[in-house]
Amino acid sequence: MFPDEGMEEEAVLKELRKKTSEDLTFDSGKILGSMCTYPHSLAIRIVGEYIDRNLGDPGLHVGSQKVEMEAVQMLSNLLGLERGYGNIVSGGTEANIMAVRAFRNVSSVEKPELVLPESAHFSFLKASEMLGVKLVWAKLREDYSVDVRDVEDKITDSTIGIVGIAGTTGLGVVDDIPALSDLALDYGVPLHVDAAFGGFVIPFARALGYELPDFDFRLRGVKSVTIDPHKMGMVPIPAGGIIFREKRFVEAISVPAPYLAGGKVWQATITGTRPGANALAVWAMIKHLGFEGYKGIVGRAMEVSRWFANELKKIPGVYLIREPVLNIVSFGTKNLEGVEEELKRRGWGISAHRGYIRIVMMPHVKREHLEEFLRDLQEIVAGVNP
Ligand SMILES: Cc1ncc(COP(=O)(O)O)c(C=O)c1O
Repeated sequence: MFPDEGMEEEAVLKELRKKTSEDLTFDSGKILGSMCTYPHSLAIRIVGEYIDRNLGDPGLHVGSQKVEMEAVQMLSNLLGLERGYGNIVSGGTEANIMAVRAFRNVSSVEKPELVLPESAHFSFLKASEMLGVKLVWAKLREDYSVDVRDVEDKITDSTIGIVGIAGTTGLGVVDDIPALSDLALDYGVPLHVDAAFGGFVIPFARALGYELPDFDFRLRGVKSVTIDPHKMGMVPIPAGGIIFREKRFVEAISVPAPYLAGGKVWQATITGTRPGANALAVWAMIKHLGFEGYKGIVGRAMEVSRWFANELKKIPGVYLIREPVLNIVSFGTKNLEGVEEELKRRGWGISAHRGYIRIVMMPHVKREHLEEFLRDLQEIVAGVNP
């Protein structure tokens, strides 16, 4: 019910604290199955200080818009592009929708189709439905990366683009993007790389010596990349990133916004009014942490993932779905649903959505939390699957 009279601030806060007390929090170390994390303190400060900035009306917040564009340039540079075009958006979903929209709009196909791996994120389902683009699913190989030959088989005259994933949602697998790029060039179709998760992992992991393929604009067939600062970038939600190689893709999805207080602009994002503070926080975190700072964060996450994978192998009845590629470890066991239910009852934030339990080694996930989790898991598996 909408209240007639307002309450004191303190009373409102008290009620809210009570209502949200059932939430799991990142700092508790109990959330093991999320790609988000507790944001960096600098980013939180910035969001507080610049909470009123609206990038949907950039004529009013000219400085903030320049900072957003600097953030886009820094992300472009990280992804091997000297000058990129795009936006800091609400997340990977919006970024992927923008990419599909751009591919559709630059094509002149009557019944547009997008070829994408079976492992693709569900945001493409939304893109498909909204944009009238048919999804054509390509099979996975035994290692859960997309079968490039099957992608090739599925390319037709109606194909507006193909998708590769650099860090799948379920397993953190990186597709053979170099081969997909070659295909894209051969067939003259654009390649979108969904690096929503891997974008803030792979460049740093490679610098640390982990063997991972090229996945970004260094490959000529790659025309757009999704990269999310609100995942491994340490920025508060919402903060996604979409980068295009060429301006024409942004132009193809821009509409005039004539009535804004700051003057007429062209808008490519799905959202209209959108938070400037988070874009500023993306800029600030990149400036503050730099390549070396992110390398440190990724290095710890990669190491703990490999340690955790080895510990899992020691538990009878538990098996890895595959060796970890990034900082995601997924495992199976008999009676998975029973095990999941009991883990949840013990307060763990995990799910077994695709036939396995996925643990994402985000910065808030520490070894001591995992040790406790392993003890619980061992006990539960022994009890449920005697
Ligand atoms: C590979 C991939 N793409 C896109 C998304 C969607 O991102 P968001 O939830 O920020 O919209 C996710 C989210 O987990 C993802 O893993």
